[in-house]
Amino acid sequence: MTSSLPIILAIESSCDETSAAILIGTQVKSNIIATQKIHEKYGGVVPELASRAHQQNIVPVVQQAISEAGISISEINVIACTQGPGLMGALQVGVSYSKSLSMALNVPLILVNHMQAHVLAHFISRQQEDGTQALPEFPFLCLTVSGGHTQIVLVNSPLEMKVVGSTIDDAAGEAFDKASKVLGLEYPGGPQIDRLSKNGNASKFTFTIPTTPDLSYSFSGLKTSLLYLVRDEKVKDPNFVENNLEDLCASYQATIVKYLLKKFSAAINICKPKSIALAGGVSANSLLRHEFEKLSKEKGVGCFIPPFEFTTDNAAMIGSSAYFLYEKKQFALLSDPPSARLTID
Ligand code: KG4
Ligand code: ZN
Repeated sequence: MTSSLPIILAIESSCDETSAAILIGTQVKSNIIATQKIHEKYGGVVPELASRAHQQNIVPVVQQAISEAGISISEINVIACTQGPGLMGALQVGVSYSKSLSMALNVPLILVNHMQAHVLAHFISRQQEDGTQALPEFPFLCLTVSGGHTQIVLVNSPLEMKVVGSTIDDAAGEAFDKASKVLGLEYPGGPQIDRLSKNGNASKFTFTIPTTPDLSYSFSGLKTSLLYLVRDEKVKDPNFVENNLEDLCASYQATIVKYLLKKFSAAINICKPKSIALAGGVSANSLLRHEFEKLSKEKGVGCFIPPFEFTTDNAAMIGSSAYFLYEKKQFALLSDPPSARLTID
């Protein structure tokens, strides 16, 4: 394969997905994701088990990414991997593996911020039939909603981002995951609540929208109000959850989406972005996607919603971010450590 663009091997191991991708520039040639099923029965990610599963998965996942891309390992020009934020033991697997491979192949290493990568997933090449691709116009405002973070990010350029709002406690994804535990559903809760909500009545139960200052969020109270509702109603009807599951999911989900967009709408008024974007695992949520698009029309700004495959954790987004760092020659040192609490500004 000959091209002036770099062939990037990207690796993601910050939480419970071991993923590897091959990109040429920002064009994805393969994107392999091994989701660790082991956590389902514990109702959440068990850090120690995540590290062990990454150790088992990383070599076969990388091999598969290389073979699906139809390249040979010697053609790789740069290795990119997630530096943080995430679980320290999980990050260490990806970072140590990437350092070793970069030494063995004698190619540079790029360490990527996972939250920046969720945002830059919008720059993964996805050409339309006419060869063009619409990209968010700078500055744009991104609502990044994942299992560990909820951020409103003002993006001035690919590598210049500022968090203008974030959660003071739980993330939006956690609000879904913790609610699913209360409702007796499996981890991760977001996809299940999303699916069950489709046949539910969102007006059946009322959850108070949290009041938080400025552009900050708080999700921990929401989960508690669901917990108390279930506890109180079960006294009257032991099958309360089973009898009302879809309505509970729909009402709870609608509250989260309303709250997310209430603050994001205020942020649009303040920051006056040229376009708006959605990112992170919770951006797979069908109601959020629908309402986000409606909001963009109301505000008259361009709307960017990632394809499903790039919403939850994946290495393609790490590769897309790495491309921008590669262009600026922002390579890592072999002594650079993973960082569990890495921030983007
Ligand atoms: O971005 P991500 O894969 O991992 C982190 O960086 O945290 O996000 C995972 C989160 C989980 O909390 C999961 O429940 C949530 O994304 N999620 C969803 C949906 N799909 C995944 N939440 C709501 N609706 C969905 N369809
Ligand atoms: Zn993520």
